Amino acid sequence: MRPILVKRVVIKLSGSIFRPEEGAKPITTIINLLKDLHSRGVQSIVVAGGGISARRYIAVARSLGADESSLDGIGIDVAKLKAKLLVSGLGDLVHPRVPESLDDAAQAAEGGRIVVAGGFHPGQSTNAVAALLAEKTRADLFINATDVDGVYTSDPRTHKTARKLSKVKIGELTSMLLEGGMEAGGYDLMDLVALKIIARSKIKTRLVKCDAGVIEDATQGKAVGTLLVS
Ligand code: UTP
Repeated sequence: MRPILVKRVVIKLSGSIFRPEEGAKPITTIINLLKDLHSRGVQSIVVAGGGISARRYIAVARSLGADESSLDGIGIDVAKLKAKLLVSGLGDLVHPRVPESLDDAAQAAEGGRIVVAGGFHPGQSTNAVAALLAEKTRADLFINATDVDGVYTSDPRTHKTARKLSKVKIGELTSMLLEGGMEAGGYDLMDLVALKIIARSKIKTRLVKCDAGVIEDATQGKAVGTLLVS
């Protein structure tokens, strides 16, 4: 099978790559990747995850008595803050505003520049934001870049026999998530809303390690991480 020619890609970045305490270095590699993709004529629509800092803020607010949708609001804001960090390093190549909604983001994408989003509305994760954006903008590829390098048969941290899958059926992944059989950050890998969107619109989706080189390989059609199949 010939690799598809990618003109527009949606990349969900794990919140863990934004580590401001380490200065600009961790995100500079991602900024360089996005610039490189742009120079090759590939438009990136990026979604920043909230990561550990979102979880910490949410935990504190929960202990203070906040309701669930307010907690989601905090997660959305943390993801947007990370998106703003990325925007600040992309100059004229990026749409200057972090979009507030799916329509807002899709309209921004029409301009042809890189678009960087965070969260949209309560009740979902940034994985769903990314899947919705891939659907809405008819992206050629959705790369979900996470803390792990793919989907395993079981938790590789506790099962020595765990095997990385080069492909996984969306139905199987849905069952694994529902059974809670993916302790290595199951929710981080993909959420159920995202899987539903991917299935209904047959979005070509790859789950990979959040590393600039690996993401680059995925855009070039290399078989990195785990491919979702119907
Ligand atoms: P994330 O999607 O960033 O969670 O959203 P995550 O799984 O920690 O992502 P990684 O680890 O960075 O990849 C953080 C929280 O923000 C809220 C949810 O509460 C989510 O758990 N959120 C995010 C929303 O409510 N709506 C959104 O559109 C996005």
